[in-house]
Amino acid sequence: MRVLSGIQPSGRLHIGNYFGAMRQHLQLQADHDCFYFIADFHALTSNPKPADIARYTPDVAMDYIALGLDTNKTVFWRQSDVPEVTELAWLLSCVTPMGLLQRCVSFKDKVAQGLAPNHGLFAYPVLQAADILIYKSDLVPVGADQKQHIEVTRDIAGRFNNDYGVVFTIPEAHIIESVAVVPGTDGRKMSKSYDNTIEIFESEESLRKKIMRIVTDSTPVAEPKDPDRCNVFALLKLFAQPQELADWENRYRSGGTGYSDAKKRLAELVIDYFKPFREKRAELEHNPSYVREVLAEGARRAASVAVETLTAARNAVGLGAHYGR
Ligand code: ADP
Ligand code: TRP
Repeated sequence: MRVLSGIQPSGRLHIGNYFGAMRQHLQLQADHDCFYFIADFHALTSNPKPADIARYTPDVAMDYIALGLDTNKTVFWRQSDVPEVTELAWLLSCVTPMGLLQRCVSFKDKVAQGLAPNHGLFAYPVLQAADILIYKSDLVPVGADQKQHIEVTRDIAGRFNNDYGVVFTIPEAHIIESVAVVPGTDGRKMSKSYDNTIEIFESEESLRKKIMRIVTDSTPVAEPKDPDRCNVFALLKLFAQPQELADWENRYRSGGTGYSDAKKRLAELVIDYFKPFREKRAELEHNPSYVREVLAEGARRAASVAVETLTAARNAVGLGAHYGR
């Protein structure tokens, strides 16, 4: 079973990304043929500063490798290193009805958030369809927010197969049942766009500071507190063992414990949780050529599949092989 997913290099990865996507990506490696890539072409749709995209791409790569991406088994590359995907996106564009894209909520959401609607943003789901189809993916593990894009992919693939004969495998979405939305330090969904993240590999000092600043209500120390309405408790749920969590729940409900005690413990738990990966992350930082080599090898492996699918698609529409250039 071929599993494929992409993640945009639009900022440093945070614990929301980890529990909502990366952890599942890494777990799937055990018994699937996994293809994971850094979606830099997609990231351009929000017009990042050139220096940012250049910086976040290796950052995302190092995070994935440090957290356990199996570089021998999993194919891991940067999207733009296999540009065939954009050629396929064009072929797919020509069978994609405008209405299908006009209905995409993610486009509407981004525009509502104030992003200038460029053509790339509008065509984003077509490029995503090309990613999925060119690598012959069976299963696409994504968060619930991406479900519509997988449906669009299935629709486009179906139309192409119908018009030109069967070229593409129709993929299935595998919606990651995240541990619910991970809250950020301000209580909203943790997101790179809200400046409320706790990064996976943040320095210990900065991590402690951010955790101590998590927004809580003003219930006095002596009073009972509702764990279900507390951002600190929501994060403790991700990191504490069940016994310890039950203990915190009691302490909240019976009063006498301040939020700052819970925050201090949370900081320790987060640091311990990622400790085994921190050393590996530091090693990778000192070895950028290794990281580049992993991505280059990934691109070679990805390209061999991409060229095969693109050739079949070019033949199907009547373009045939490239004459050369
Ligand atoms: P961001 O909101 O930080 O820009 P992305 O939209 O790039 O994050 O998300 C990448 C992946 O991480 C998606 O699969 C998304 O579902 C998951 N994800 C992001 N933030 C959270 C969160 N706060 N809780 C759970 N999952 C999240
Ligand atoms: N749109 C996805 C996101 O924002 C990233 C992505 C790009 C992707 N291409 C993909 C995910 C192909 C799965 C498959 O999270």
